[in-house]
Amino acid sequence: MVLNITKLGEDVLRQKATPVTEINDDIRKLAEDMFDTMIAANGVGLACPQVNLSLRMFVVMVDDGVRRVFINPQIIKTSEETCDYEEGCLSLPQVWEVINRPEKVSVQAFDVNGKPFTLEADGFLARAIQHEYDHLEGILYIDRGDPDFAAKTTEQFKKRAERAAEKAKAKEAKAKKIAAKIAAKEAKKK
Ligand code: NI
Repeated sequence: MVLNITKLGEDVLRQKATPVTEINDDIRKLAEDMFDTMIAANGVGLACPQVNLSLRMFVVMVDDGVRRVFINPQIIKTSEETCDYEEGCLSLPQVWEVINRPEKVSVQAFDVNGKPFTLEADGFLARAIQHEYDHLEGILYIDRGDPDFAAKTTEQFKKRAERAAEKAKAKEAKAKKIAAKIAAKEAKKK
């Protein structure tokens, strides 16, 4: 099932997510839905706050096609060497920025069966893990880039949300008008 993706400006993206207390069928179904959502949106990773749930869990699928689920993850080590990579985020559509991060990362987490694992990642996988982990802390990648770009992007999304709200309001008003017209016609018939 494809879920709705939260966008920059929504509070849940700025909250520190809470740990998953029980890894059960609901969590496994949620992980599946998150993969469906991520794939439908052409993403490579998705964190719970992005589907409006403040939980410490994210999913990642990079070029190798392996579906990786990280529940209650902890980043235990990052390399001193860093690298630049252009990042995007499904919660910030049509925005990209080059961000500098550690090249390698070691992460500990639980899988969907409640089994703990440790993963040492580099390259694009390491990048995706760090980006998704940030979501659980209420951090977005623009926070790690140019502050002017972050401010500009935040303002841009605020305007986008305002326009969407106006559009929805106009649509509702139009629907009400049509309903009133129909009701008036019906009343005449009687
Ligand atoms: Ni993201």
